[in-house]
Amino acid sequence: MSINVNEDKLLFHLQTKNTSYIVGVMENGEVGQIYYGKKVHQSDNYDNLQTREWRNCIPSLDNDHGDFQLEMLKQEYASFGKGDFRKPAFQVTEENGSRVTVLNYEGYQVTSGKSRLEAGLPSTFDDNDDDAETLTIKLTDDLTGLTVFLNYSVFPNQDVIVRSTKFVNQGSETLSLNRALSLQLDLPDKEYDLLHFHGSWARERELSRDAIHDGIQEIGSLRTASSHQENPFFILARHDTNEDQGNAFGFNLVYSGNFIDSVEVDQYRTTRVLVGINPEEFEWQLAPNAEFQTPEAVVSFSDSGLNQLSQQLGKFYEKHLVNPNFANELRPILINNWEATEFNINEEKLTSFAKTAKKIGIEMLVLDDGWFGKRNDDTSSLGDWKVNLDKFPSGLGHLSESIHGLGMKFGLWFEPEMISQNSDLFREHPEWLIVAPGRKPTPQRHQSVLDMSRDDVVEYLFESMAKIIEDNQIDYVKWDMNRNITEAFGAKLSADQQLEFGHRYILGVYALYQKLIDKFPNVLFESCASGGGRFDLGMMYYAPQAWTSDDTDAMERIKIQYGTSYGYPLSMMGAHISAVPNGLNGRQTPLSTRANVAYFGDFGYELDITSLDESIIAEMKQQVEFYKEYRRLFQFGKFYRIESPYDNRGSYSSWEVVDENQDVAVAALYQTMQRPNDSYVRLYFKGLDEDKQYLVNNDSHAYYGDELMNAGYFVSHFNRDERTGSVDFQSQLFVAKAK
Ligand code: DGJ
Repeated sequence: MSINVNEDKLLFHLQTKNTSYIVGVMENGEVGQIYYGKKVHQSDNYDNLQTREWRNCIPSLDNDHGDFQLEMLKQEYASFGKGDFRKPAFQVTEENGSRVTVLNYEGYQVTSGKSRLEAGLPSTFDDNDDDAETLTIKLTDDLTGLTVFLNYSVFPNQDVIVRSTKFVNQGSETLSLNRALSLQLDLPDKEYDLLHFHGSWARERELSRDAIHDGIQEIGSLRTASSHQENPFFILARHDTNEDQGNAFGFNLVYSGNFIDSVEVDQYRTTRVLVGINPEEFEWQLAPNAEFQTPEAVVSFSDSGLNQLSQQLGKFYEKHLVNPNFANELRPILINNWEATEFNINEEKLTSFAKTAKKIGIEMLVLDDGWFGKRNDDTSSLGDWKVNLDKFPSGLGHLSESIHGLGMKFGLWFEPEMISQNSDLFREHPEWLIVAPGRKPTPQRHQSVLDMSRDDVVEYLFESMAKIIEDNQIDYVKWDMNRNITEAFGAKLSADQQLEFGHRYILGVYALYQKLIDKFPNVLFESCASGGGRFDLGMMYYAPQAWTSDDTDAMERIKIQYGTSYGYPLSMMGAHISAVPNGLNGRQTPLSTRANVAYFGDFGYELDITSLDESIIAEMKQQVEFYKEYRRLFQFGKFYRIESPYDNRGSYSSWEVVDENQDVAVAALYQTMQRPNDSYVRLYFKGLDEDKQYLVNNDSHAYYGDELMNAGYFVSHFNRDERTGSVDFQSQLFVAKAK
């Protein structure tokens, strides 16, 4: 039993293997937070865990309960206007303009398992009887008839709790939901660092770590996408927590639109965490009998450091979020033509790509942007999902056949949500483009966004994409999204529904994904948004992997993949070798280093393989063989961060993957700038079995796991790269195998 209920005192103790989450009904009938952290015993009295002491100048519940002061209390889903002046978890406006809601406890229900949300939202699930349990606490407001269901699903084996809220209007007037967050967590002090993943295009998810401070800190997005700039995932860790020890909470949101992560340190130096849809640019009209379901928020706690937190979250997603058809499936090694050709493609070129790819051992060819409409550059044709017969005179079917004939898979790029003004689609349906009445659309890459809140748009896209996928036996779809929404307006929505637009847009995206997945259960989807601009759990529910970044320079990628690894497992990260000098920064990195970085994820190539000399092809062949041998490890192994590229003390960074049985590990050590006569370097392995003996890179001598982890493995100096002549950007791989 993961959910233990004390019926007399209305206390709910949610237990996972290593954590406890305790809440209870308070005197005012709302739900209070009692404790979240390392597992504690069950008890019938948690008074010690509740900070309660009368304070002056703070409103009380009423004159008989002078010491019940909401501002002082840790709560689970705080409302506004009754004496707690911190940011609330929700807010509702009545028809008369009143914004005060009084919730009262009505009852609870515990169900075994965890089913998917029915509201067209991506969500977690427990299909495999992994002992999940769900607690639903029902609260109602007598005056308005608003019913609020607080949902907690407990996943005991991964130390994860998933929260969401459902609002149901059982009254007779329309209520406006101005704020409806997914998770609130009130913590008893403020001694935490906030780790969040900040960035920009081509520089996604860079680790940023600072102590939280008095007042409110917020990260979020108003771009109608989770964004390159901030990721919904964040961590609160004790100041002394590092990769291997210490307490840390990880939070994430199963959502791809506007979000907010807010951390408020109040006057008593307690901390309130809020996670959910960004209330700015949000309001939902809740008519009588209507429901609103928030997205789910995931929270997890580790007392053993950040590596452990990332590992438990990663395994949780692979088991309880990702499409089960692909969750444990090895992902194909692919060649994508984009960086090699951009729009300059035709059947002949792609066929010769496929033939060379086959020689190297690559398993899938992905035809990127430019195969449709009249698209020869980025100024036209988005929305016209018909094959460009000038480039592919026999259609894509012919190319598909020859690729399949080679025993390879065929993947295709789409950017479904977009429309070019120079397109047949725009000429036919100018009203489908998002723009505010009387305003001009703001261009980006010559393209605009389709109004995905409209059913007719979703239906059109489904029909046209399904036809291409079906007619051409497409095995994989790369779903790109290269701009955010400006002039947000839903032409089909009434004036008082306009703030529903952002959420309805994302629901439309999800609806299209779902329809395609239902029709093509064996097609693997990869999401992309100018690289990693929508790298979030909402997308991962439909598309089990994502293009991590448009930046394929190995040195930059180390940072991007290292940062991403805090919140997401390797199986979600597309990682490719591209040409040098790198298209974005002109850097020359050795081919071996580009491979040593790209191995840690869903491996592939993104360069003109038809123009390479034989020695490079031969090296690539070896890379592919090597990756195939360790593919399960690289995609699904336990990932350990060892030395951070964000730490400027040294010129090295390293990481490692280990298999479940601790029999095989592959570690990589990367050198940034070479320093003459540099100090000695040791690689400290992690996650090995102390008592097993390992051979490293087939050394003649085996070392015990404890020695490799505690004393480290001596790394001999780096050699010059044969092609560049430089020692900069060199790297070494260490394969440790138990004897
Ligand atoms: C942005 C993506 O991130 C690239 O990989 C490529 O697909 C281009 N779009 C194509 O327009």
